[in-house]
Amino acid sequence: MSGKGMNLTLKIWRQKGANDKGRMVDYKVNDISEHMSFLEMMDVLNEQLIAEGEEPVAFDHDCREGICGMCSLYINGEAHGPDRGITTCQLHMRMFNDGDTITIEPWRAAAFPVIKDLVVDRTAFERIQQAGGFISVNTSGNTQDANAIPISKHDADEAMDAATCIGCGACVATCKNSSAMLFVGAKVSQYALLPQGQVEAADRVRNMVAQMDLEGFGNCTNTGACEVECPKGISLDNIARMNRELLKASLK
Ligand code: SF4
Ligand code: FES
Repeated sequence: MSGKGMNLTLKIWRQKGANDKGRMVDYKVNDISEHMSFLEMMDVLNEQLIAEGEEPVAFDHDCREGICGMCSLYINGEAHGPDRGITTCQLHMRMFNDGDTITIEPWRAAAFPVIKDLVVDRTAFERIQQAGGFISVNTSGNTQDANAIPISKHDADEAMDAATCIGCGACVATCKNSSAMLFVGAKVSQYALLPQGQVEAADRVRNMVAQMDLEGFGNCTNTGACEVECPKGISLDNIARMNRELLKASLK
């Protein structure tokens, strides 16, 4: 080891654009502190590449604190890497050892085409959310205070849990069928559990599921890998709730 940090070999997916075939390329980074985040390690690599006159590796990120859902790396064959309940930006280099070889790929799913290197197009998720539409808000001037509508603690907690989905897409990337049902289940559930979400409930679930199918996501076969890799611990119960909501809507 040179200095006090780790020396690592990175095998990274490089792809110039949507029409490029892409390939894995090996890089070396040295003296990486165990206290760095994974993305800080990627920053070190990119500074090195820029200094050498090479093109830096494109990867998505924004908040770097587990909120925005932008970071999306498939690390050593796992969405968001080897830790649990965290996003890639919350992954620390202490999870790795000096001398390790780390494989870094983009999310792989037909509905998430690669834009460049490790950046994929996840606008399919946005179109699904848009298909879900809005919730009705009374703007008559006689609006009832939201806090005056009784909601059971159980339902409020479950709705809040569902609402923690950050739309990162790890569930899709992990699923052998590239299913988006954990994501859609969470988005349907966060409203289906609340009185405010009832007015458009039937249309919402019908439209979101139809858009999900249109985007080319696969079906759920109850493997449960999505739940394991989800950084926000979104439960498979949300998929069951989405299916119940869809059945209810089809009977209306
Ligand atoms: S369900 Fe989990 S893995 Fe899927 S998009 Fe939401 S936060 Fe990400
Ligand atoms: S960069 Fe925002 S969740 Fe990782």
